[in-house]
Amino acid sequence: MRNAARPGTHASPLNQVVADMAKIMSHRIAMDHPRFFGFIPSPVDENSFLGSILTTMYNVGAGSWYQSSGASTVEDSLIKWLAEQAGFPSSSGGIFVSGGSVANLTAIVTARDAKLQFEQRPKAVIYMSEQTHSSMAKGIVVAGFHRNQIRRVECDSNYRIKPSSLRQQIESDRKNGLIPFMIAATCGLTNTGGIDDLNGLADIAESENLWLHVDGAYGASILLSKTHRHCADGIGRADSLTWDAHKWLFQTYDCGLILVRDKRDLVESFATGASYIRDADEASSEKVNFWNRGIEMSRPARGMKLWFTLQRLGLDKVSDMIDHGVDLAEFAALVFRGFENWEILSPAQLGILNFRYVPPTSQLPGNGVDFDQFCDKVNAEISRLAVERDIAAPLTTRITKVLNLRMCTVSPHLSRNQLFEVIQSLDSVAKEVSASFVKKRILKI
Ligand SMILES: Cc1ncc(COP(=O)(O)O)c(C=O)c1O
Repeated sequence: MRNAARPGTHASPLNQVVADMAKIMSHRIAMDHPRFFGFIPSPVDENSFLGSILTTMYNVGAGSWYQSSGASTVEDSLIKWLAEQAGFPSSSGGIFVSGGSVANLTAIVTARDAKLQFEQRPKAVIYMSEQTHSSMAKGIVVAGFHRNQIRRVECDSNYRIKPSSLRQQIESDRKNGLIPFMIAATCGLTNTGGIDDLNGLADIAESENLWLHVDGAYGASILLSKTHRHCADGIGRADSLTWDAHKWLFQTYDCGLILVRDKRDLVESFATGASYIRDADEASSEKVNFWNRGIEMSRPARGMKLWFTLQRLGLDKVSDMIDHGVDLAEFAALVFRGFENWEILSPAQLGILNFRYVPPTSQLPGNGVDFDQFCDKVNAEISRLAVERDIAAPLTTRITKVLNLRMCTVSPHLSRNQLFEVIQSLDSVAKEVSASFVKKRILKI
């Protein structure tokens, strides 16, 4: 593969290069496979492929209205519509970016500039939890802060930020002369699918004059579910919202979105007004220049494939596709409860379930072996074998100190029956693994 990267001196035939491309791409994890449950899968709808190809063919430079008045107008209108779904006011606006990480970084920079004087930055603090996606901490560092300016607030038993602990932390930071400026809440925690108490955190943000960001990279799509949208109640009180269409809106990479309550805040942080763009830089409420709303100058019209998909599918279908993901995780929880020795570590939430196999005590290896460490090894091996045998890909994570299996069941192409078969197979693998671990005594703790 490494040799394949070197360009030849002379042209290669098209069919050979296409064949090489297919070979290279065959070495991958199929993130859109219905039985790939790891990370946040990428269950792309075929309309997004088409929308993506068409957008690439037109290759508009969607940095300014001058370059792409059609696409910019549609992207801007789509952003306004998505903002309405979230309950944001008419002052709101945003920009399609590469994904959740860049959306979160954009929010941090915007909040920093809106809430802090330049001189205050060294004393500023931001609040999040251990469960907050790592891109928030990364964004804080990229935005010029130090890691020790991050406060990890205590969570409740459902891994949600505890509002009472947040209040105490803010009070103690202020007493110590520090300057709280931002709360990072999450709608759709990557580990558990959980949602922070958005109204509780919005109350605190309002009374403490802090910027409330909601990372809905994964979970904000629930707003397009007719049945479950109430789960995100309070999201419209945020100052900014991250929402990735390449996660649960069935888009190809890349298609993320950052929304802010007042779009002028983005312009404050990101407009440059360089002389060589002056012919194109004249903006008005009708003529959006996206290069003034984000980090990029040249950018593709990422929102167009989402527009294409929503037009093709219609909202009823999109709502059903999202509901299906929620239903599958709940169904999986029900099935695991019916099998012996499986433990649910976090309930099914927004299409995510955490569970582990706990071997019967009769199978414990004895000789002082730590029970949780034994379970960790068993569950890691179940995941490894499930992938190796092409059963499914439930990958591992840790939400408490123990290791667990995790399923994100967002594929609209997986049926309940297929999921049931997967769980049956996992159960057989689990029995086999724990029995063989004991028998061979390969455990070296
Ligand atoms: C909650 C959350 N925020 C942010 C991100 C980062 O998004 P991206 O990978 O698109 O940069 C993820 C990725 O899974 C996520 O789950």
